[in-house]
Amino acid sequence: MTEPDPSIGDADPSLPAGVERREFDGRERLATRGEPAYGEPTDGEWRAWDAGRSKLGGMLELGMDIGLDGGETVLYLGAANGTTVSHVADFAGPTYAVEFSPRPVRDLLDACEPRRNLFPLLKDARRPETYAHVVEADCDALVQDVATRGQADVAVRNRQFLADDGRLLLAVKARSEDVAAAPDDVFDEVLAELESAYEVLETRRLDRFHEDHLGVVATPR
Ligand SMILES: C[S@@+](CC[C@H](N)C(=O)[O-])C[C@H]1O[C@@H](n2cnc3c(N)ncnc32)[C@H](O)[C@@H]1O
Repeated sequence: MTEPDPSIGDADPSLPAGVERREFDGRERLATRGEPAYGEPTDGEWRAWDAGRSKLGGMLELGMDIGLDGGETVLYLGAANGTTVSHVADFAGPTYAVEFSPRPVRDLLDACEPRRNLFPLLKDARRPETYAHVVEADCDALVQDVATRGQADVAVRNRQFLADDGRLLLAVKARSEDVAAAPDDVFDEVLAELESAYEVLETRRLDRFHEDHLGVVATPR
C-alpha cells in the first residue's frame, strides 16, 4: 500500500477551510477547489491560486492572519475579471463581487457561471448606496483591491456592510494614490485615514508578490 504524501493536502490551520497548500509542477502553492478561471494549473478538482496575480493570495502566502475559517459572507470590491474573487468564492459562502469597469465584468461573469454563491455587481465601490439593497448586512469580510485614488475612503464608505467583528482585508497600491510619493508615506496616510472607521490589526508589505503594495487586516471600530 502506498503511504499518503504528507506534504500534499495537509490542512494548514492558518488557512481557511477549503484553501490548501498543494504541489503543482513540483512547486507548493495555495489552491482551492473549483472550476479554473484564468488558465491556472489544476490537479483534479484543485486549482492553483497564483499569489503573483492576487493580493489576497499574497497576504495568505506571507502568513497574514485574515481571520476567516471558510464559509463566510464576503463583499469583494474591485473584482476585475474574477481572478481572486473566484478563489474566494471557492472557500467562502455568499460572495458579492463589485466591479465598475464593464470590460473585465465579461470574464467575471464566466467565473460566476459555475459558482452559485458568486454574485457580480457592475457598480462603483465609491457609491455603496447603489448596491446596499442587494448585499447582505453583517458581512464577515470586506476584501478590497480597487487600485484607485482614495482607497481608504472606499474602505470607510463600505464599512457599513461589515459585521462588528468582521474583517477588512485591504490591498493598498501606493502608486494609485501618488505616483511620486514614497510608498511608506502613502501607506501611513492611508492607515491614518482608515482609523476613523477601523482598528488596524496587521499590515505587511506585499512586495514579494506585488511591488509597492501594502496588505492590511483591520476590524471595524
Ligand atoms: C488591481 S484590479 C483588481 C484585481 C482583482 N482584485 C483580482 O485580484 O483578481 C483593480 C480593479 O478595481 C476596479 N475598480 C477601481 N475603482 C473602482 C471602483 N470605484 N468601483 C469598482 N471597481 C473599481 C478596476 O476597474 C480594476 O478592475
